[in-house]
Amino acid sequence: MVKQIPTDLDFEFHARGIIFIDILPSLWLVYVILKSVRKKKFIMNEISREILFSRAEIEKRVKELADQISKDYAGKELIIIGVLRGAFIFMADLIREISIPCKVDFARLASYGASSESSGKVVMTKDIETSIKDKNILIVEDIVDTGLTLQYLVGWLKERNPASMKICVFLDKRKRRKVTLEADYVGFTIEDGFVVGYGLDFNEQFRFSPDIYVIKQ
Ligand code: IMP
Repeated sequence: MVKQIPTDLDFEFHARGIIFIDILPSLWLVYVILKSVRKKKFIMNEISREILFSRAEIEKRVKELADQISKDYAGKELIIIGVLRGAFIFMADLIREISIPCKVDFARLASYGASSESSGKVVMTKDIETSIKDKNILIVEDIVDTGLTLQYLVGWLKERNPASMKICVFLDKRKRRKVTLEADYVGFTIEDGFVVGYGLDFNEQFRFSPDIYVIKQ
């Protein structure tokens, strides 16, 4: 039997085979992964925003609102109804500053979808679970814009005959109001513009930010 001795040429073909079959696909995979990570980062950074209220300003204003609410409802039974999802951070901060005992519940309404413009059609996707008949109700909302969401909720809750009903919003965006709706407690009044942070989102982004930003076009 004649044993074939590999030539230099055989070694070269073998080495090329390793590069093409083993290394190149792995390099290509690393390239694809890095490219998608860069693309994601780019999309997040693409939305430029400017700070509107710092966490310190927010904290101070929440405390002032809570003091006023505690005073107004002193000696009364209070049920706070938060509007999901945007109000959850504001509500959590507010109730920890309120010095009177209160119960909490949540409703969920939607009108925005993945856009920064209200669709104008409000739907309730989660009702409250507490009986509010003859009780004092305080609705807590992150922002009022057209007013359609709160108008819908107020109408819905009124049918259950609460003793009283007031509204507390952290931000009041008055310019695009479509219905007559005045909140009883307002954190800040703002001009038109889409704001994010402190529970407010744009397509589920920025909710977690402790400061409030306005999106720059
Ligand atoms: P309205 O029905 O137009 O008053 O809108 C109320 C709801 O729209 C709020 O609960 C928010 O979820 C959302 N919204 C309105 N304006 C903004 C904004 O500037 N940023 C984030 N969400 C907003």
